[in-house]
Amino acid sequence: TDPHYILVETRGRVGVITLHRPGALNALSIGMMHEVVDALRTFDADEGIGCILLTGSERAFAAGADIKEMAERSATEMFLRDWFGDWEGLNRVRTPVVAAVAGYALGGGCELAMMCDTIIAADTAIFGQPEINLGVLPGMGGSQRLAHAVGKAKAMDMVLTGRTMDAAEAERSGLVSRVVSADQLLDVALEVATTIASKSRVATLLAKDAVKAAFETTLEQGLRYERRLFESAFASEDQKEGMAAFVEKRPPEFRHR
Ligand code: HXC
Repeated sequence: TDPHYILVETRGRVGVITLHRPGALNALSIGMMHEVVDALRTFDADEGIGCILLTGSERAFAAGADIKEMAERSATEMFLRDWFGDWEGLNRVRTPVVAAVAGYALGGGCELAMMCDTIIAADTAIFGQPEINLGVLPGMGGSQRLAHAVGKAKAMDMVLTGRTMDAAEAERSGLVSRVVSADQLLDVALEVATTIASKSRVATLLAKDAVKAAFETTLEQGLRYERRLFESAFASEDQKEGMAAFVEKRPPEFRHR
């Protein structure tokens, strides 16, 4: 069945998922969560896809979890149904996921962007964790990932006051990798995703895995893990091809892209 809340398309080797609930600024309902995670899994399993791009609309990447859907829930219900648990599926996606953010990325929207591997922002982007204003707190990783991304002072400031951060501050703080004008956002994000998708898939998956370890383990363990991954890359045909191509002064033709 066709998804209701997202648009899915393929651009070359890039899988594009567009959040599409225009009447609600892309509020992340449970239905949308299932569709996004399904689409991510499908692209991840597709050998023709080397990078996934997740984006929203001009006005909003996503204005948060769906407040109307949540408002009347009891703690027991949230707990027993593990209300937002399926978003963890994003963590198991091995293909790199690039978020392209324009407009609001608030609450769960900011958290969803931070679950992606990198964020490219339009100059219109507005990030925030305003849950405090609703009598709650971030619940999809915001307190952890924002603290990792921008440090304690700014994370506390944003989570406790509910204030937002514009694109310039987000770039200055390390939350996003680049800021571009809103009309260029998709072109630039697609170019970045296409570049990622052109590399050796073996190397790409190992590299993503290595960087993720930096957020999950000690420096010593992370360094050792990186070294083992680096060594194992020498088992790939693409390492032979990549290095031979350099020596022969020609572009590499990776077997597994
Ligand atoms: C449900 C939402 C929504 C949301 C917007 N809408 N955000 N519906 N959940 N998170 C709906 C509005 O109700 C409205 O519907 C329509 O989208 C347009 O929004 P407006 O408010 O009219 O637009 P505007 O005046 O431009 O204000 C934009 C805004 C505001 C500043 C982004 O919508 C806003 O503050 N939204 C909520 C932001 C937020 O608190 N996010 C955190 C959610 S909690 P109608 O039908 O009235 O036209 C969260 C928890 C995550 O994310 C952790 C989970 C574990």
